[in-house]
Parts: sequence; structure tokens; C-alpha cells
Amino acid sequence: MAEVIGLGISHWPRLATAEEGYSIRLRNSLRDPHIPAEAKDPANWPEPMRREWGDDQGLSHAAAHREGLLVGMRRVRARLDAFQPDAVVIWGDDQYENFREDIVPPFCVLAYQDDFVSKPFKTGNIWGMSTEDELRVRSAPEIGHALASSLLQQDFDVAYAYKPLHFTGLSHAFANAMMYLNFDQPDKKSFAWPVLPVPINCYGSHVLSHRGSVPVLHDTSVRLDPPSPSPRRCFELGRATARFFRSSPWRVALMASSSWSHAFLVSKHWQLYPDVPADRRLYNALVAGDYKAWTDTPLADMVDAGQQEVLNWFCLAGAMSELNAPLEWSSFVESYVFNSNKVAAIFAETGRGG
Ligand SMILES: [Fe+2]
Repeated sequence: MAEVIGLGISHWPRLATAEEGYSIRLRNSLRDPHIPAEAKDPANWPEPMRREWGDDQGLSHAAAHREGLLVGMRRVRARLDAFQPDAVVIWGDDQYENFREDIVPPFCVLAYQDDFVSKPFKTGNIWGMSTEDELRVRSAPEIGHALASSLLQQDFDVAYAYKPLHFTGLSHAFANAMMYLNFDQPDKKSFAWPVLPVPINCYGSHVLSHRGSVPVLHDTSVRLDPPSPSPRRCFELGRATARFFRSSPWRVALMASSSWSHAFLVSKHWQLYPDVPADRRLYNALVAGDYKAWTDTPLADMVDAGQQEVLNWFCLAGAMSELNAPLEWSSFVESYVFNSNKVAAIFAETGRGG
């Protein structure tokens, strides 16, 4: 019998590192000679940002940020443990990892035949894992095949793949999600459930031109790429995905993996801090179940706010709206100095008995 839950987490890379490294992006920007001195002067920062920065470059704020994030990770993990899905379907951004100049699909169902074997542990990770340690995650080829088929039958022209292109194993949005959902697990080398990644081209105009990374503000000669899929289209992908799973034989967790506004994508803030008010607006609408506020959001506004990765959450929001699934729990972990705000969310299970 089909049962579906919706989940959302961050895949912020710094969570795997010591707190001393949390503000490294901001510290790098403060050394950038192309950013004007007035913008770098804390006296001109928003007041909450000055408070977070304090007199130790944010270190005192780091523990609270980490704990706030871990509360969400642990709750989502506990929900998965209780739900025991047949697969976890994850919407995540591909930042010039598996998809490069030879092809950039707006959406792709990774219905890999083989399991995902990744090496996601970076030097200095807090678990003391070796960079050679492998994370093995089961793939979900049958569910992926059925999802891609259904989306195409629903007039949704999604791409699919049976094997990797440029990136072996799981790319960062997916592998980091696994690491964090395993945060307290003694076994860091496997994941309890099969995973079906659905990468979204969130970075759009920057995916090839800037290799899905930090835009170079002072160089305007770079030709940008075509845009990402629109927020509304991502929302519709989520709805079509939910329609399929609602009538499928599987128990499935639908998960968005990403932080929200990213400082390094907010050029109006000189890449120093994220657009907190824009994130708050979307978050409040999510809590209120006001999906019209989501679908009315133009892509240009999201790019202006550095919310490219929130497109993953548009898929989740679309799915939850289609299923009429109420939000069961959520948190908004704000940060000006640690690159991004992080949202975690758990939507109520739907389909029981139906
Ligand atoms: Fe990302």
C-alpha cells in the first residue's frame, strides 16, 4: 500500500567539520580585494549579523548553529527509522558534478543499476573517517524506472540514467544528506534504505559558466548559461511525483536536500550574507500551507535572493501540496555568518489506509 512522507534537510558541507571552520566563506570574502571596504565593515552589517560575528569571527555562535541543525537531522532520522521506507527519493542540486558541458538536464531520475559507492569524507571530518573510506548506498532501479515512466506518461519530459556520467557514486547534495542522517549511527559506511536521487539543475545560468560555485562578481565578461527550470515547474515535478507514488505499491520518503539562501550567491550583499527576509517569507508561507506564495515566486526573485538551491524544496512543496500533507514539524536555523539559513521539515504521513 502506498504511503508517503515528506522531509527536508540541509546538506551544508561545514556540518562535517569542526566549528572553527564554519565562517570560512565569510572570512574568505572579507579578504577579497574586489569587495569594497564599506561592505566589509561590520558597522554596515545587519545587526543580527554583527551579533553572530561577535569578537571571535562567529565561533561563539557556532555551537548553537550546529545544535539547531542537529535537532532537525535527528528528528528526520527518527522519522525515517519509524517509517522504514522502501526508498528515499531525494531532490538535490548537481553543482557541476555528474552533469557538465556535454549535457545538463533540468531534472534527471538516477535509476542506477548498481549501488552508489562514494568517498564523501573530507580531510578533518569530525567523525575521524578516512578520505578513503567508502559509503555504500543501495540504489532503487525498479522504483526509478517506474517513476521516470510515470513522469513521462504524465507529459513531464524528465531525463533518466542507469549509470553515472561524470561523478562516481553520490554527489554532494545526496552524499552529505546520507552522512548527516547517519550522524549518530555507529556505521558510517552504509545507509539503512535504498536511495533514488533526482538531481535538479538549480544553478541554472551559473551551472557551467561558474561550475555551480561562487560567481566572480567583478568579471562581467562571462557568458551565463540558460536558466534553471522555473520554481513553478519544480513545484509541478513534485506534484507529478506525488501523484505517482500515491498510487504505487511503495512506502516512500520524499526529501529535499539543501540549505536556503546562500551568501555566495547574493551579489546585492557582496556575497557576504544570505537574504534572510526572503527565506523567512518562503518559510512562513510553508508553515501556513500557503503554496500560492511559493508558485507565485518568479525565478528572478530567487536568483536575486541566492535561493537557487531552494528549487529542491519547491519539488517537496509541490508534492506535499498534491498530497494535502500537513506540516508536522519544522525549524528555521538562521545564520548570517555561516553562509546560509537551514530549514528542516517533516510532513505528516499520507496514504495510510487509503
Ligand atoms: Fe548544494
